[in-house]
Amino acid sequence: VEPDAAWRDEVRRLVDQRDAVLLAHNYQLPAIQDIADVTGDSLALSRIAAESDKSTIVFCGVHFMAETAKILSPDKTVLIPDARAGCSLADSITGADLRAWKAEHPGAVVVSYVNTTAEVKAETDICCTSSNAVDVVASIPEDREVLFCPDQFLGAHVKRITGRRNMHIWAGECHVHAGINGAELAERAAANPDADLFVHPECGCATSALYLAGEGIVPSDKVKILSTGDMVTQARSTRATSVLVATEVGMLHQLRKAAPEIDFQAVNDRASCKYMKMITPAALLRSLRLVKDEVHVDAQTAERARASVRRMIEVGK
Ligand code: 13P
Ligand code: SF4
Repeated sequence: VEPDAAWRDEVRRLVDQRDAVLLAHNYQLPAIQDIADVTGDSLALSRIAAESDKSTIVFCGVHFMAETAKILSPDKTVLIPDARAGCSLADSITGADLRAWKAEHPGAVVVSYVNTTAEVKAETDICCTSSNAVDVVASIPEDREVLFCPDQFLGAHVKRITGRRNMHIWAGECHVHAGINGAELAERAAANPDADLFVHPECGCATSALYLAGEGIVPSDKVKILSTGDMVTQARSTRATSVLVATEVGMLHQLRKAAPEIDFQAVNDRASCKYMKMITPAALLRSLRLVKDEVHVDAQTAERARASVRRMIEVGK
């Protein structure tokens, strides 16, 4: 299936026929981003999923994102074009792991990144995304211990910004972002001294980016630790003519659209998420034609997970 005009017409016709809203994450293939009603980061898409008056949500992203939409809108039909689109970060902690960790820290407040399964969210007090993780942790009273899971790099970033001492961090990681390392970033930054650095906090190099800034190797106002949605906002306001981007490569498409005059380059052009790329033009068409793959979350789990997800979409509003 080619993403040509006939494909676009058919997708849009079926979206209308199914009374659907089509959402795409910033890491999706360009053709998928361009046909969606909204392309954005996890937080923005969750908010739209919660507020949409359509009866169906077609989520072009990975499974935990579609599951989050279902938790927020249990009466809607939520479709993901390929249910095998998982997430290595979400797989790094199970509900049982989290229950055992909580038992070791009674009374602690559990903050889980949205990249988790519904079962983990059901054991969580408050969810966060990369765009509001700092605000979420800062909203917790100082005297309460915090358990932060599952991403160690985002956790380290939040701990650094908030200065929180009583925060324990799970040792999970995303294989794509962990692979964008500090040595590579330093080399690219040295070769492009005028470029801004946009770094996703899930990256293995987020600490190195701040180190480069701290040591004056890169001017500190050039280093930005940002969620994917905040990268687009920043692209519109920066005065830089080139930007090095440390995140999944799908991001470049949205950035180039937002600021065509800026030269955006990936710090690591092999940083592609195979799960995100399972949502092909053919898969999207099949999904709309067959009303598949439908996302289900057990009612009791969804009920328990809902409060933590609602808090996430409220913080920073
Ligand atoms: P955000 O879009 O929230 O920045 O998340 C990035 C990500 O890795 C999602 O899998
Ligand atoms: Fe998960 Fe990483 Fe892919 Fe994002 S890029 S969906 S965190 S595996």
